[in-house]
Amino acid sequence: MKLTAYMGIDALFLVVMLSAVLSSSASPTQSAKIARGKYLVEAVAMCGDCHTPISEKGEPLPGKVLKGATLTFKPVAPMPVWADKTPNIAGLPGWTDEQAVKFLMTGIAYNELPGRPPMPRYRLSEADAEAVVAYLRSLAPSDK
Ligand code: HEC
Repeated sequence: MKLTAYMGIDALFLVVMLSAVLSSSASPTQSAKIARGKYLVEAVAMCGDCHTPISEKGEPLPGKVLKGATLTFKPVAPMPVWADKTPNIAGLPGWTDEQAVKFLMTGIAYNELPGRPPMPRYRLSEADAEAVVAYLRSLAPSDK
């Protein structure tokens, strides 16, 4: 009898510990996704090269990271559809997660059109597109 009671408490302890481990794994997964997205945005796809305004010295303006910019370069041959401004993508205002993931996987935006050049038509994997979206969502949207 005593042994059963002891084992009961032991098993309960195990369940409590397990559920603590399982529930805490939810946030590391989300933060790992955001970290992966930050890496893709900052070190692979270089979104800030076009979406972050720069100072006269060419440095990113503090507080304006990914908040939209006027491009400082033009194509060598004229391109009628060239866009010389980039929108704010911090917080991804105006986009659902599904629209933004599709855009990063296909290059096709919610209006069924590709972004105008020089916006690259990315073909990210679903996991990478979701990571980029999670990271952009984690940023405070523009105060503009
Ligand atoms: C080489 C420059 C460049 C880079 C790098 C770049 N963008 Fe863009 N992006 C643009 C331009 C220019 C536009 C505006 C296109 C337009 O007006 O049609 C744009 C538009 C967008 C839009 C809005 C598209 C639409 O149709 O409304 C989103 C969302 C976006 N970019 C996300 C990103 C993300 C995320 C990254 C990095 C993974 C990135 N961009 C990297 C230049 C760039």
